[in-house]
Amino acid sequence: MAINIFCMIDYLGDQTKFKACHELPVYNLKDIRTQVMAWIEKNTNFLEDKTSKGFWMKIDYKNLARSAPALIEYFKHVRIPIQEITVGVLTEVMTDGFVMHHGSPGRNFKINFPIYNTEDVYTEWYDIPDDKLKEFPLLTNVHTQQPCYNLSSIHDTVDKLYPLRVAYNMHECPIVFNSYLPHRVMPGPNAKYPRIMLATMPVKDPFDLMQLS
Ligand SMILES: [Fe+2]
Repeated sequence: MAINIFCMIDYLGDQTKFKACHELPVYNLKDIRTQVMAWIEKNTNFLEDKTSKGFWMKIDYKNLARSAPALIEYFKHVRIPIQEITVGVLTEVMTDGFVMHHGSPGRNFKINFPIYNTEDVYTEWYDIPDDKLKEFPLLTNVHTQQPCYNLSSIHDTVDKLYPLRVAYNMHECPIVFNSYLPHRVMPGPNAKYPRIMLATMPVKDPFDLMQLS
């Protein structure tokens, strides 16, 4: 356990080095969306789900990958191998957003794709100093079993407490997404639900794309 905690603090210790997000060029987002939506309609209840609050939906991602060749072609094109795909769903009971949090160690950067109802929904990354982060209670990320700081107590107030780094509406292209920095997902008044994004995990973190010059 002690080793994990040290890893985590180190992981969060130099957050000023990296961008919050980096837009990737894309040539086939329309095809990716069409194929992913067809798979979602056939294999999940995400489009009918009006009550889930968990955001992350575990899926049979190998099955999705077989049904979404445009997604696989894209990763070949950008030469970034991925190892996992998940779906993030913001349902209509989540008008207060998806809770302030940070990614657990080992997964710094994801490549996320806007899929459905992506207008007027913003990911907000905040600069919370390292010494302040250490004052938050710890929790274990249920997906990775890694320790994280529980930032839920400042979900509603973080904008008054800490500087906003970026508020980003993911809608026109995939992005390299920094889950290293504390962030929340906030719908605006014109958001539509369910808002669906696809998160993919590169085999290796693309640090080169994310370094601030
Ligand atoms: Fe996140």
